[in-house]
Amino acid sequence: MISQEMNDSLTRVGPGSDAGEVLRRYWQPAALLDELEQARPVVPVKLLGEDLVLFRDSEGELGLIGRHCPHRGADMCFGRLEDNGLRCPFHGWHFDRSGQCVEQPGEPEDSRMHEKIKSVSYPMVEKNGIIWAYMGPGEPPAFPNFDCFRAPGTHVFAFKGLWKCNWLQALEVGIDPAHASFLHRFLQDEDPADSYGKQFRDSAADTNIPMTKLLRDYPRPDIQVEETEYGMKLTALRHLDGGQTHVRVTNQIFPEAICIPMSREMTITQWHVPIDDENCYWFSMFTSFNGPVDKDLMREQRLEEHSLPDYAPLKNASNNYGYDAAEQASETYTGMGLDINVHDQWAVESMGAIQDRTQEHLGKTDIAIIRNRRMLRAAIAAVKEGREQDLPMHNGLDLATISGPVSNDAIAKDGDWSKATQMSDAERRAACPWDAAV
Ligand code: FES
Ligand SMILES: [Fe+2]
Repeated sequence: MISQEMNDSLTRVGPGSDAGEVLRRYWQPAALLDELEQARPVVPVKLLGEDLVLFRDSEGELGLIGRHCPHRGADMCFGRLEDNGLRCPFHGWHFDRSGQCVEQPGEPEDSRMHEKIKSVSYPMVEKNGIIWAYMGPGEPPAFPNFDCFRAPGTHVFAFKGLWKCNWLQALEVGIDPAHASFLHRFLQDEDPADSYGKQFRDSAADTNIPMTKLLRDYPRPDIQVEETEYGMKLTALRHLDGGQTHVRVTNQIFPEAICIPMSREMTITQWHVPIDDENCYWFSMFTSFNGPVDKDLMREQRLEEHSLPDYAPLKNASNNYGYDAAEQASETYTGMGLDINVHDQWAVESMGAIQDRTQEHLGKTDIAIIRNRRMLRAAIAAVKEGREQDLPMHNGLDLATISGPVSNDAIAKDGDWSKATQMSDAERRAACPWDAAV
């Protein structure tokens, strides 16, 4: 349980806010590349409480500038995409991709006023299906050499989805290894052969035990947390009958991402990106260590559950997330279908727009949540005191040396779970068609 003041400090994201200033020191996913694949590549983007417009100019370069025209505030999303920039339809002021006003066609011919008019604009970079923006001061940081960034484009699929809640509670479900045994419990086990593109449907590593059964039968994981250069490594141990141990390694990537195994073939690296204080997008990068990702199938599976252009889930609070009492009695723990994204969405949205953490009671299995808040508090203090070098991944370390992060499921036959997880990861990387060496 924390004070209201601390809850505000950790959750709010607008310019000048405590957590918002920390988040602004890291690249943020702004949009999927897919979103610009249209005849008129102009899309609204709301990020960290700021209203922006993303467009591709006629040179094929990206611009991310203020959504409201610096003249009198009209919506630039309706702008005319012409003359290698975006022109406001109200009085024709024209902006290039850097946000500079280059023309004011209604002002006197000799006016040089436009030289002093500039919209906000942020640097951007495209990586494996996601357009990233840097909204902080100074030069943007480098990207770490994570698997999702270094794998070739054929082996990474990116998608996003809207959750109507604060980003921190969305992140906290991802660093909570205990919930999988309950929230995602299936009372029946599906055929693991039908598992492509889905989480927790495979059989557990080196066994014929469906993950669903393993999670159900062993609900009390022993959770270990280790701080790393990028954030935290979480190890959840489930001690099975017969002396074997199931080891699940997941990660938190500071300040707002997780990296988790999805199946034996793929990992998910997922950012929980604040739209504003009360809404966020998850942006996932599904990375294959085997063959190329079947992107058409992955996209189709996910588009069936979301509506465009907002990537809003079709199951949501307005239809009780598809809740069905009969299903809850016999098939799933939640009664909300088999898509585990819906379960997580219900869990985090049902807390309220910003979870009231003055009323919570954290247990032993919430250890990573506690550690993460501590890291965020330290980062907030560091930014306030001008100690940027104390932020994770800002300490002068060559980010190209940060790889992985290792995330997998493994079975230790003899109790040496640390060795088992390392060996299973090394095997996967050795067989990987792209250079996945760590
Ligand atoms: S409000 Fe945009 S040009 Fe006038
Ligand atoms: Fe979950």
